[in-house]
Amino acid sequence: MAIADTFETMAYGPAPESDAEARRWLDAHAPALDLYIGGGYAPPRDGAHFETVNPATGQTLIRVAQGGPADVDAGVAAARAALGPWSRMSGHARARVLYALARQVQRHARLLAVLETLDNGKPIRESRDLDIPLVARHFYYHAGWAQLLSQEFPGEVPVGVVGAIIPWNFPLLMLAWKVAPALAAGNTVVLKPAEYTPLTALLFAELATRAGLPPGVLNVVTGDGRTGALLVDHPDVDKIAFTGSTEVGRAIRRATAGTGKRLSLELGGKSPFVVFEDADLDSVVEGVVDAIWFNQGQVCCAGSRLLVQEGVAPRLLDRLRARMERLRIGDPMDKAIDIGAIVAPAQLERIRRLVAQGEAEGATVWQPSWACPTDGLFYPPTLLTEVAPASVVAQEEIFGPVIAAMTFRTMPEAVALANNTPYGLAASVWSEDLNRALTAARAIEAGTVWINSTNLFDAASGFGGYRESGFGREGGKEGLYEYLRPAWERAPHTSHGEKRTDAIASIGSTPSISAPTPEDDAVPVEEAHEVALTLPPAHRDDAPAPAHGQMWEEEGTFPAIDRTPKMFIGGKQARPDAGYSRPVTAPDGRVVGEVGDGNRKDIRNAVEAARAAAGWAATTGHARAQILYYVAENLAARAAEFAARIAHMTGASPAGSEAEVETAIERLFTYAAWADKYDGAVHGTPLRGVTLAVNEPIGVLGLVCGDDYPLLGFVALVAPAIAMGNTIVVVPSERYPLAATDVYQVLETSDVPSGVINIVTGGRDALARVLAAHDDVDAVWYTGPAAGGRAVEEASAGNMKRTWIISRPSRDLLDPIQGQGPEFLREATQVKNIWVPSGD
Ligand code: NAI
Repeated sequence: MAIADTFETMAYGPAPESDAEARRWLDAHAPALDLYIGGGYAPPRDGAHFETVNPATGQTLIRVAQGGPADVDAGVAAARAALGPWSRMSGHARARVLYALARQVQRHARLLAVLETLDNGKPIRESRDLDIPLVARHFYYHAGWAQLLSQEFPGEVPVGVVGAIIPWNFPLLMLAWKVAPALAAGNTVVLKPAEYTPLTALLFAELATRAGLPPGVLNVVTGDGRTGALLVDHPDVDKIAFTGSTEVGRAIRRATAGTGKRLSLELGGKSPFVVFEDADLDSVVEGVVDAIWFNQGQVCCAGSRLLVQEGVAPRLLDRLRARMERLRIGDPMDKAIDIGAIVAPAQLERIRRLVAQGEAEGATVWQPSWACPTDGLFYPPTLLTEVAPASVVAQEEIFGPVIAAMTFRTMPEAVALANNTPYGLAASVWSEDLNRALTAARAIEAGTVWINSTNLFDAASGFGGYRESGFGREGGKEGLYEYLRPAWERAPHTSHGEKRTDAIASIGSTPSISAPTPEDDAVPVEEAHEVALTLPPAHRDDAPAPAHGQMWEEEGTFPAIDRTPKMFIGGKQARPDAGYSRPVTAPDGRVVGEVGDGNRKDIRNAVEAARAAAGWAATTGHARAQILYYVAENLAARAAEFAARIAHMTGASPAGSEAEVETAIERLFTYAAWADKYDGAVHGTPLRGVTLAVNEPIGVLGLVCGDDYPLLGFVALVAPAIAMGNTIVVVPSERYPLAATDVYQVLETSDVPSGVINIVTGGRDALARVLAAHDDVDAVWYTGPAAGGRAVEEASAGNMKRTWIISRPSRDLLDPIQGQGPEFLREATQVKNIWVPSGD
């Protein structure tokens, strides 16, 4: 072809990447790759293997082991054996290993990229320029956290053995997102790659051994969902970190309920891509290309809903169609290809089915005029218009190169449409007006918001979802907490005859006391006795009824049954729906009062009131602090009365009751102090501009209090939750609820806005289950026996709400380390990262 012709047509020639080195690696392992356990390959116990296929050609690449129960056991045992030495290594020593891993990734970048593309079907341009460099970046970044761990995370220890289960859309990157922080924090890992894309994980494990990672620190057990389920159910795994479908995430939530396993879930999304009329439309078009055609749209945070302001919609859609005509689809190994192959036949089928369903529901389907290749798993870039917000293509994750367009007129409409999904993973906002863009960014409920950009990732910025997109963050400082736990915590269970805590080196100082709750039957008797002696003898059931309390009763301040406090809902005292009351009985059998017996309807009313008070989130930290101080002041004015009530009700000593009230007042001061100081961050990402990490309230929290300290148990939960801007529904101590109902008057005189704090008395576990199952509750904190915690975790799977079982392991709320601090603030907030590029 003459140069003039080339200029005329601007046709691309083929630019294939060589697969020779990857083929050599495959040939060296043919006919089958085994499991990678304890620093080397091990055949599966029952000899089962399955094929992994190149989706662009349909050719089998190699066979891979299907891990069964004995293999998962072996992987977990290897990780357990490696845990002690690895966690006891200095942070610096681990930093060196992680640094070496990053270097290995860079040295073998081409091989890893090619193998990824062969196995997954993604364009080599993406695996080479995005996936693999980000993998290296994650290991470098987390080498840094390993180095800084003891200074930056005092009092924290590794969680233990981590089971990591990852999807097929970014196989090596998802490995890095989990393995890098897990190892940096001193954990060991059993990784279960996706069945479609297991190859780079095995190659990485080889490279890691070569880089000096001790045997057993990272084990790779390949297989399908059954292998994943075995890992989830394994009793010797301390944490599950999962990325994948919401459906499987939900199953994992249920399977781990009550086990004490820590859990982080990164699930699906239906992310909005919001275009205001003042946006730079040419940039927007390129943004859409990156948002939905990157990785064939098989991206959890893909901008799959295009929300365009009405005035510019026709113009934008015209330009978009013109751009789609120029997209190139085909052999992923061709360096000039924009769109590669869909990972597997089932996924292609799912895309076809959902698009057909959208069309049947009234959407108009538009695809470029060129012919899509048919000799592999290809699907053309697709634009859906005339999409109704409630239709399946606007609601369900398609996970393919399909974007659904809708229009809006005003900012509130844009925000309402953007939030019209159960998900909350990411969003993209386009406007040349930074005021407008930031207003939308704050109002959209999503873990990441990109302004005038999309699909930007970096290890320094935590990634993860709001709402049904899951919980936990990957990357950033917040991501590391997913792999750490407070040193004072008891391990969830012991195994191999050794105490977990002995096997794990403490990173920093360990706090003094670890007091048992009455429910905790796991605490050895001698230990419990010892602890009890170090505490004021408050609320021990066997304590004799104090003369002090009797005196109050005799004086008539607390007649046996004086009045029945109602519920506290929407700032008013409300009668219990069913009209039943329950007696409050002191340990010596005296009936000291009655409270309303709350039911499902009371909880529903309280949740409604809490939701209606959402404006609380928008108040300033200063304003919230003022109100907390005011509550403290009013409580202090009645301290003697509250102490007497506690003593009377629980049989506690006067000193113990007074200490409880004083501590409750101090806690109110603590969180008043934090209200305007729990700052976010500006992350050090490579973006030219700023990446803002903002701590946002979670929304409506259900707080279920224990019986240990009737007043402090209430205040220790309520204060951090409202300080951070949440509105709450509280179930006070079931046994001693009168301390909380006495707070009504304090709240009424302290300017707490109506609906911010709602209180429903009654049976703890029944009410906790209602809260956990309620779809408009965003998180539940629970204090109580193990069975109740399990029920809360199980029920929470409905809308994938966050749960925090405060009493697991047993926690002494009076203790200044166990009972307050940043852990409570982290549980009361979620991080939103807002990427704001700058430039002229
Ligand atoms: P999936 O959720 O089934 O697979 C993800 C991982 O979980 C894989 O390693 C799989 O083997 C494992 N797994 C499956 N069942 C399991 C179980 N019961 N217990 C433990 N582990 C289990 O996702 P799949 O079926 O590959 O894709 C289906 C849909 O899920 C996609 O169309 C897409 O909508 C969504 N998805 C979302 C991802 C994300 O990043 N958010 C990633 C992959 C899929």
